[in-house]
Amino acid sequence: MLRKLSRPLLCIPFIAAALIPFALAANAQSTPDPAPALRDLAEQNHIHIGAAVYSDHLLDPQFNQVLSREFNMLTPENEAKFCWLQPNEGKFDFSKFDQLVAFAQANNMEIHGHNLVWHQCLPDWVAQGKFTRDQALQVLHDHIFTVLGRYRGRVAIWDVVNEAMSDSGSGLRDTPWRDMIGDDYVEMAFRFAHEADPDALLFYNDYSGEAMTGKANAIYDMVQDFVKRGVPINGVGLQSHFTLGGVNEASISQNIKRLGALGLQVQITEMDDRFDGAPTPAILQEQANDYAQLMQACLENSNCTAFITWGVSDNYTWLRGTNLGFFKNPLVEPLLFDDHYQPKPAYQALVDVLTKHAG
Ligand code: GLA
Repeated sequence: MLRKLSRPLLCIPFIAAALIPFALAANAQSTPDPAPALRDLAEQNHIHIGAAVYSDHLLDPQFNQVLSREFNMLTPENEAKFCWLQPNEGKFDFSKFDQLVAFAQANNMEIHGHNLVWHQCLPDWVAQGKFTRDQALQVLHDHIFTVLGRYRGRVAIWDVVNEAMSDSGSGLRDTPWRDMIGDDYVEMAFRFAHEADPDALLFYNDYSGEAMTGKANAIYDMVQDFVKRGVPINGVGLQSHFTLGGVNEASISQNIKRLGALGLQVQITEMDDRFDGAPTPAILQEQANDYAQLMQACLENSNCTAFITWGVSDNYTWLRGTNLGFFKNPLVEPLLFDDHYQPKPAYQALVDVLTKHAG
């Protein structure tokens, strides 16, 4: 289980290591201990705390600093999606994802790979492709083997399939993969992924399945069937794109628990908390409560191994994108850090819950 953290020791050159005690002694009287970062508190609770990162933002030194200080897991916001990695048939471009992997390794962060199979971010050669079932299976196989083969030993977790379930929970949604291969495209992706990297933890990831909804039931039935039939799956990702006041801790905890009873991990994979209009202190406090409730639901269950937010700071949230049909609010502040990288009430709420639970 990923819950047991093993952070590699920093490799400090001998001379520098020898000088460190003196440096610490000199500082001891003048500098108070810095407050523990989220990643330290998460570690005390045996979970990871992560953020989705867009590689271009690594050029921003302040972003960089907050990310490496506070988080010990990183999800590529886009860089590992199909259309980024294999924009043309057989021609892979790993350059952007490699940047994120290098950053994560340099900062002792695990990587939550996202994602191998999705109905969005598909290049035309797949989305418009006229492949037979066997040809499409070959395309799927080759993509998964190439990507997992390259990152074997460096990317510990993969969202193998993202958002395959219909919103009503009445069955799989229509996607080019389903059209070309059939309903078993989901399990075939898991089988290929396990063959390609038997050590990777393989997740199914989706939205609106956090609490005990009809869609959550449909996801549960699907993964229960996989477990029964030996389809290699290790966990379920609960995306957690919430709207203010929408976190039902008891129901989410119940869902995490039943997945745990199947032997599956759960990770909160894409948490953010949106609202309409301008933020007020009351809104930010309610948002803090949402974050606290969700973290609480995670900590209550030993199979919940990570809590990942969809971004680091409000200035870069995808929710300010003007082309989102379902949501429009350029003032939204859905994350833990504000536009100037200052921690928000939601940050403090996580510190409080993690501290209390560790103690
Ligand atoms: C979904 C996907 C993510 C991302 C977000 C919005 O949740 O899983 O990769 O695209 O939407 O940015």
